[in-house]
Amino acid sequence: MSGSLGERIAAAIGRDGPWPFSRFMEAALYHPEGGFFSRPGGGAGRAGADFVTSPEVGPFFGALVARALDGFWVRLGAPDPFVVVEAGAGTGRLAREVLRARPRCGPALRYVLVERSVALRAAQAELLDLEPPEIAGGPVEPGEPGEDAEPVPGCGPILTSLDSLPGTGAVDGVILANELLDNLPFDLVERTTGGGWAEVRVGSGPTADSGSGNPEDAMDRPDPSGPHRGDLGEVLVPASPDLVAAADELVAGHRVPAGARIAVPRGVDDWIAAAGSALRRGWVVLVDYGAGLAELLDRGPEGWLRTYAGHRRGGHPLERPGEQDITADVATEAVHRAAHRAGLTVESDTTQAAWLAGLGIDDLVAEGRAAWEAGAAHPDLEALAGRSRVNEAAALTDPSGLGAHRVWVLARRPSR
Ligand SMILES: C[S@@+](CC[C@H](N)C(=O)[O-])C[C@H]1O[C@@H](n2cnc3c(N)ncnc32)[C@H](O)[C@@H]1O
Repeated sequence: MSGSLGERIAAAIGRDGPWPFSRFMEAALYHPEGGFFSRPGGGAGRAGADFVTSPEVGPFFGALVARALDGFWVRLGAPDPFVVVEAGAGTGRLAREVLRARPRCGPALRYVLVERSVALRAAQAELLDLEPPEIAGGPVEPGEPGEDAEPVPGCGPILTSLDSLPGTGAVDGVILANELLDNLPFDLVERTTGGGWAEVRVGSGPTADSGSGNPEDAMDRPDPSGPHRGDLGEVLVPASPDLVAAADELVAGHRVPAGARIAVPRGVDDWIAAAGSALRRGWVVLVDYGAGLAELLDRGPEGWLRTYAGHRRGGHPLERPGEQDITADVATEAVHRAAHRAGLTVESDTTQAAWLAGLGIDDLVAEGRAAWEAGAAHPDLEALAGRSRVNEAAALTDPSGLGAHRVWVLARRPSR
């Protein structure tokens, strides 16, 4: 296949007509040949000095997640096996730190990393001792005649890696995802002057970036003088009834001025439905950029649609497909509705800073500070780890950074 991913997308759009933004995002991030997360290294676009995910800050986030997992395990009655699925697991860094923290649930733990990027699954295999999926359930003892075989207790932790979520009812435990939802493809709509919705599609060739002015006038009318992003540009088309219904549901109760744009998170809806179906008993824990719809409307797309490239904020989302990450803050209302549809209860919805406080971060930081102060004159490993814990905690709870992430805990009640 020849040409850059952008050129290939432009050629395909030339044949098919303008693409929904979700289709463009799917190709730009996940196309097997040139998608951002398919590239060698799997698109470590947010790692670096300025933009890091919580597991990349250091080992402390993993240690706190290990505490959370222990809490869920106890609440489930300490089952063995206890399944933890980490979706969008990237390089496997979080899994490594969770295990290094030696959680109490470890001997019961079956840790399943789910990552769709082949390049990142290869990185996980470098970092972790992975078992093939077919034996990751652990050894079993034959049961009585006519009964199922019983898992041998105390064999964990056993790790494996998959490319998609396990099937219906496979998980008794926790499905966890850090910064996955914001990378799932969404559609874009813009409020029309008549109070309806136009869909913002991605066109190629002489199409318009018609995001300003009267969107109804601009619909479907190419404007060769409009700003372009390489070979691609925005095209407004009338939204389908299905998209209108999804957008209306999302903004219910909010005043949306003409010209305002929102993301309709198709990927989030589908993923939460799949997680709900995989979870027999336990919790889905989602950590991500997010905010209420009122705030997102207030901020506008400049405030909720972001790109990252080369460890920095990138350019316009249509620029250089495959070379930059494309992400959007997730509307809290969308998570709540998707959870409800999936038969899950929203057990808590809080900030990362508050969630970590509930896991006892303050006591652990105080211990770290004491270890550093005790050893500061001649720092040993314990003192250095103590100092690092203090610094990591500041980053993980920073109210203008990672501490402001939302943490949604969705429950499938153990009684089910
Ligand atoms: C921003 S990265 C986060 C990686 C890691 N969780 C972290 O916090 O550092 C999002 C990851 O989700 C993966 N991903 C996207 N959609 C996925 C899906 N449907 N199933 C599994 N992984 C997915 C991407 O390939 C990427 O590795």
